[in-house]
Amino acid sequence: MTPSKMPAANGKICVAPSILSADLWRLGEEVKAVEQAGADWLHVDVMDGHFVPNLSFGPSVVSSLNGKTDLPLDVHLMVEKPLLFIESFARAGADLLTVHIEAKDDVAETLSQIKRLGVKTGVSIKPDTDPEVLRPLADELDLILVMSVYPGFGGQAFLPESESQIKRVREIIQASGRKIWLEVDGGINAQTAPLAVSAGADALVAGSAIFKAADPVLALKQIRQAAPDI
Ligand code: DX5
Ligand code: ZN
Repeated sequence: MTPSKMPAANGKICVAPSILSADLWRLGEEVKAVEQAGADWLHVDVMDGHFVPNLSFGPSVVSSLNGKTDLPLDVHLMVEKPLLFIESFARAGADLLTVHIEAKDDVAETLSQIKRLGVKTGVSIKPDTDPEVLRPLADELDLILVMSVYPGFGGQAFLPESESQIKRVREIIQASGRKIWLEVDGGINAQTAPLAVSAGADALVAGSAIFKAADPVLALKQIRQAAPDI
């Protein structure tokens, strides 16, 4: 397995286009276009039909992207039983695996398996989960993903209460003294990106705002301009 390409948090604002909203007929072209336009990571949403009422991509999609793009593959597992899938996604080339704290498997065991496979670790919280659950896990984490919509579908509106979730997670990261990315996912566009960044985000996932735009390259640049580095 190749070492993870995901760097540690470094004060840069990273933009991660989500291929959930890409035109899958032209996936390669879409990925190359956002890569050339300055995307930092590629976000891959994995849904199992149990944790969320939708289905999306499996390890074969990650494997198809691996080696074709230089972007780190940021894999978001919206699955009930992540332990079943971690090894397959690691072997497929995931650079970061994010699991949900609300999933059924033991989170400490899940994170230790991800680390053992040489992949960066992430934990995500839904909009109604108390961020305090993250505090005891901070030593094991490379990234925390705050959902700013209820997971399952692209194209939803950013929930305004996400700002206070992001602020609370930023405080937990600061208290940990560790370099942990704070990624925000759901309803991010050039209008909401500054709200997320001023609340403490340093990584932004954007699906429909980029891939459903008439000009995805321009849309990505507009999000980046709206959210300059901190
Ligand atoms: C939603 C996914 C998101 C989704 C975001 O469950 O986790 O990553 O692609 O899509 P937009 O940016 O359209 O809200
Ligand atoms: Zn996602």
